[in-house]
Amino acid sequence: MITLKENSQTQNSNKLPIQATEPKWLQTMRAIVQPIENLDRHQNKYGDIFISRFAGLPTQVIISNPQGIQELFTADSKLLESGSGSNIVQPLLGANSLILLDGDRHLQQRKLLMPSFHGERMKAYGKLICEVAEQVTSQWTIGQPFVARPSMQDISLKVILRTVFGLEEGERYQKIQQVLTEMLDTFNSPLSAVFLFFKSLQRDLGAWSPWGKFVRRRQQFDDLIYQEIRERRNQPESQGEDILSLLLSARDENGQTMSDVELRDELMTMLFAGHETTAIALAWALYWVHYVPEVREKLLQELNSIDIANADPTTITQLPYLNAVCSETLRIYPVVFFSLPRILQAPMQLMGYDLPTGMTISVCTYLTHQRPDIYPEPKRFRPERFLERQFSPYEFLPFGGGNRRCLGMAFALFEMKLVLATIMSHYSLELLEKAPVKPVRRGIVFAPAGGVHLMVKEKL
Ligand code: HEM
Repeated sequence: MITLKENSQTQNSNKLPIQATEPKWLQTMRAIVQPIENLDRHQNKYGDIFISRFAGLPTQVIISNPQGIQELFTADSKLLESGSGSNIVQPLLGANSLILLDGDRHLQQRKLLMPSFHGERMKAYGKLICEVAEQVTSQWTIGQPFVARPSMQDISLKVILRTVFGLEEGERYQKIQQVLTEMLDTFNSPLSAVFLFFKSLQRDLGAWSPWGKFVRRRQQFDDLIYQEIRERRNQPESQGEDILSLLLSARDENGQTMSDVELRDELMTMLFAGHETTAIALAWALYWVHYVPEVREKLLQELNSIDIANADPTTITQLPYLNAVCSETLRIYPVVFFSLPRILQAPMQLMGYDLPTGMTISVCTYLTHQRPDIYPEPKRFRPERFLERQFSPYEFLPFGGGNRRCLGMAFALFEMKLVLATIMSHYSLELLEKAPVKPVRRGIVFAPAGGVHLMVKEKL
């Protein structure tokens, strides 16, 4: 049962949503250790809008009702702040990250970055994505197992280093790849993710302490990035089509260029937001395609209907079943379970509830995507549902929405489809997982537990 009676619009006036009764510490532990079970339990018990409390975070309204999500995403953006509610990522991304900005500065930065992820630029990335996928997978050995998530991360990181930084293979490229991967691995277990949530744990107690290790890796990463920025500033003739080139030449309305720190934070944001998310989505896609044999068969049939090796990337990305497989992958376990928080700058009525200034609202994408009234048999992987009907942006929202909708949405979908098509058309794989794979927390995203083990059977 999804919607509690009290949640109907007319009965809610002057009331707050129902509050989860479990103690804060228990809600926090469950959210970290059993995220799926915890969310399912809350939805069953409290309905599709409720108040939850987690240690280290402000009290939040969690919403998964499409009508409420529409009200939120279409509200005046001046009414909602996100940046100030995303402090948890500041140690990683820096204070100038798009994710941490609000108001006019946020709008300006989005305008500046947006063209890099759309239109003609995307087409240029298509060939590069297929090349990188072929290069990384050519290291797979027939008869050998491999783990999908790190392998997909290798692809997505190489793609982003080349598109965002314009970096070609070389010493700095290798080093950035290594340090960034190690830095993100600091948060690879649900418990180490706790460090992001509690400021009191963020203490550098030496190179072997968890936070100390993170801080040193971040310093190494920053040194590499600042070297690259300095060299590129000194060699204007080397500017290319990449996003760093675009940002280096950008000017604000006063004619000011971006400072080195601003550039570093924005580059880190692209790297952080752009590569691990896509890699996790791809690992899930490989899991589901090999978990449901009929899906694999149908997908192969569609891919075999065109000459993948010579096809224009856009022809591949428009294949309907491939699109349905990627959408269903992002529906069932959406990688980012919650949108960025929205903090009310003035009182707001949401689904008839009166929410006060300062209240934090988080859209729970996972719960919206699990609603049986929108997605019958929600726990079943069934791409056909995306061929049978269209879902509104408030029913299907793996990339969030409103003025904060994921900047890299088109890029991520493009990459997912091209990499999946390249792998499926080159290799036959076998899933080695004996039991259903569940999502676990990795920092602020949710990834398949164990990373998805597969075996390379033969080259097709
Ligand atoms: C499958 C891959 C991805 C998923 C599932 C994903 C998901 C999301 C979600 C849910 C949000 C928050 C939206 C909201 O609160 O309304 C977001 C924001 C963002 N994403 Fe992505 N993302 C992905 C890939 C990418 C890529 C490839 C890039 C860039 C290279 C990127 C850059 C960003 C940025 C910069 C923001 C912040 C936008 C803002 O604050 O205005 N993401 N993403």
